[in-house]
Amino acid sequence: MAESPAVKVLFVGDVVGGVGRRALAALLPALRERHRPQFVVVNGENAAGGVGITERTARELLDLGADAITLGNHAYRHREVYGFLDREPRIVRPANYPKGSPGHGHTVVERDAVRLGIVNLAGMVFMTAMRSPFSEVDAVLAELRGKTDALVVDMHGEATSEKVAMGWHLDGRVLACLGTHTHVPTADARVLPGGTAYITDVGMTGARGGVLGVKREQALQRFLTLTQVRFETSDEDPWLNAVLVEADGDGRATSIETLLVPARL
Ligand SMILES: [Fe+2]
Ligand SMILES: [Fe+2]
Repeated sequence: MAESPAVKVLFVGDVVGGVGRRALAALLPALRERHRPQFVVVNGENAAGGVGITERTARELLDLGADAITLGNHAYRHREVYGFLDREPRIVRPANYPKGSPGHGHTVVERDAVRLGIVNLAGMVFMTAMRSPFSEVDAVLAELRGKTDALVVDMHGEATSEKVAMGWHLDGRVLACLGTHTHVPTADARVLPGGTAYITDVGMTGARGGVLGVKREQALQRFLTLTQVRFETSDEDPWLNAVLVEADGDGRATSIETLLVPARL
């Protein structure tokens, strides 16, 4: 990798509903104080009522101190956000979605003379996307060559195999390849041999007392009866799930630390 400055990034897993936003608001100041990340990146695909994101909830995440927001398969859930996805450079939806669809798949944010690139990808195993995330990320990296000092890829996917494979595909080419979407943190955070920080899933920032952030009675009712049940966001036992990635001066990750923090709201 090319010469680049040291960098520290806090990446927060899928923020689910109002309770997730409140957990982030409650915990982020202390996390900033303690870890002093230059950049905070937040996956916001569940920020609005548990599914999707709106302009208002996106602005709330940015106002809380997110330098960039990544999304996923729920990016287009709320039609009203489409214009905002086009206008706001700090929010990204999967790069391998149709070129003409709202928003963009990568962005570059700058702080302390460090340019951090952020790329969002959607998996294609048990999930819909337009193009392979593997060839797509190659194209994005080629486009960003020379324009960033470090790159973080949010690989939003259902299948662990696809995310592990993406980690190997990107090893030595980006600072971090971080999995999102399942809302369950995995125990495999590590720096790959080429210097890329990797985790299969960061987890979620939301209510652990539910089922992936949904009220557990409602999720259970669907499993038990196979009927349509309206899902609401659980607010029981909120936690913040995140990772902290650090890089030295040559652009290689030196550490990735999982942060699983209960929120007392
Ligand atoms: Fe999610
Ligand atoms: Fe998702």
